[in-house]
Amino acid sequence: MCCFPQLKVLITREEIGKAVTRLASEIRRDYQGKRPLLIGVLKGSFVFMADLIRHLDLSLEVDFIKLSSYGAAKETSGKVRVVQPLKTAIKGRDVLVIEDIVDTGITISFLLDYLRKKKPASLKFCSLTDKPSRRQVPISIDYLGFTVPNKFIVGYGLDFNEEFRYLPDICFVED
Ligand code: IMP
Ligand code: MG
Repeated sequence: MCCFPQLKVLITREEIGKAVTRLASEIRRDYQGKRPLLIGVLKGSFVFMADLIRHLDLSLEVDFIKLSSYGAAKETSGKVRVVQPLKTAIKGRDVLVIEDIVDTGITISFLLDYLRKKKPASLKFCSLTDKPSRRQVPISIDYLGFTVPNKFIVGYGLDFNEEFRYLPDICFVED
């Protein structure tokens, strides 16, 4: 149960746990014998990434990148910038990007283009959630947890104005 009356649970912690286990086994199968670099997109992906890597049972490295955020708005401005760059060189690496949600697709499309220019050996994309109803840029998601309806969701790392990241379930704000 969400502890705020205006929030309703959309995806329970148990459902999230099952999805994380499923995604980890798909990723483990595809990266056998490799040492992938997982890049978490800050801040929303940090809870998901922390759970995911503990189920992977693979030798791997992590790094993080921060892109310009929505600020206090619920909608993207359409312009993306790197606010905090990677610390790791990705040329020749097997890179797996970890996101919390794909909404319009503008952020991840920018990031994948940005990373591709640095010539990784491979580049794949894992997102916990996908809101396809709002897509503006076509995106292919290699590993997906859940497709979600056109609602603003919070919890399990996802925020609204920096609030609610700590909720263990994924909730939505009731209209
Ligand atoms: P996009 O560029 O529109 O795809 O937006 C992607 C980013 O917006 C995500 O990485 C989130 O940080 C944020 N975002 C989009 N939709 C939601 C939502 O429903 N809840 C919380 N954050 C969201
Ligand atoms: Mg994000």
